[in-house]
Amino acid sequence: MNLQVLIVSVLISFVLFFCSCNAKLAPDYIRPCNDTSRECLVKSTQDAIPEFVKGIPELGVVSLDPFVIERLSIPLSGLTFTFYKGKVTGFRKCIVDDVLSNLEKRHFALAFHCNLTIKGTYDAVGRILLFPIDGAGEAKIRLTNLRMKVDINTKYVKDKDGVNHFGLKNYKYTFDYGDRVSFDLENLFKESKELSTTVLHFLNENWRTVAEEFGKPIVDYAVDLAVKTIEKFFVAVPYEELINVPIPKF
Ligand SMILES: *[C@@H]1O[C@H](CO)[C@@H](O)[C@H](O)[C@H]1NC(C)=O
Ligand SMILES: *[C@@H]1O[C@H](CO)[C@@H](O)[C@H](O)[C@H]1NC(C)=O
Repeated sequence: MNLQVLIVSVLISFVLFFCSCNAKLAPDYIRPCNDTSRECLVKSTQDAIPEFVKGIPELGVVSLDPFVIERLSIPLSGLTFTFYKGKVTGFRKCIVDDVLSNLEKRHFALAFHCNLTIKGTYDAVGRILLFPIDGAGEAKIRLTNLRMKVDINTKYVKDKDGVNHFGLKNYKYTFDYGDRVSFDLENLFKESKELSTTVLHFLNENWRTVAEEFGKPIVDYAVDLAVKTIEKFFVAVPYEELINVPIPKF
């Protein structure tokens, strides 16, 4: 090998080495804000959602739209309702209402509303309100303008390469079922189609009471999954790629 070729190949390997060290990990749809103004945070969060919810397999970030609840049992007083392969869709179209970020106080708050659909199969044994239930079949639940507010306490961590990341300390959330929840549950009573229809009608007339009685475990599950997904994302993507504001001392 002549000297020139050697020098060129050494240079190329150096360039490749440094390029891969400096390679951006965040996907292109993440447009870091240069400040923590509400205006920029809302816009950049809103712009990122439709892509972010598809997941980022190479970073271990799972899909949120759709996501599947393999099996979720909801124990109620006198009734056990179990959802199987509940496919949840709609997060990609969520509308971001507010984003607040206080980097010094390590606080992040997000408010949004969405239309969600959960489709799967179910079985239920026991009673809902006054009605004895013994049913199984297809289930579809639609939530219109479900409103949520998530408060996250963050922290800053350095990974083993000394790179800064956001971390999650804890979170809490509040939500409102919004404008309407509609239930489409097939065969609530295996032995009577008529009774099934009547009770389903009743459940829909009283959707808020019904949702309040059995909706929370489903919402808890969805929020927990979403927060875990954000956490994975924070582990994978450096702080500096998420916001162009110097990291507070930690
Ligand atoms: C932040 O500043 C850079 C450089 O001026 C600019 O290219 C980028 O668009 C700004 N980011 C946002 C979200 O406005
Ligand atoms: C949800 O659906 C309703 C009625 O179909 C519509 O008016 C509303 O804008 C939708 N909300 C979102 C967040 O897409």
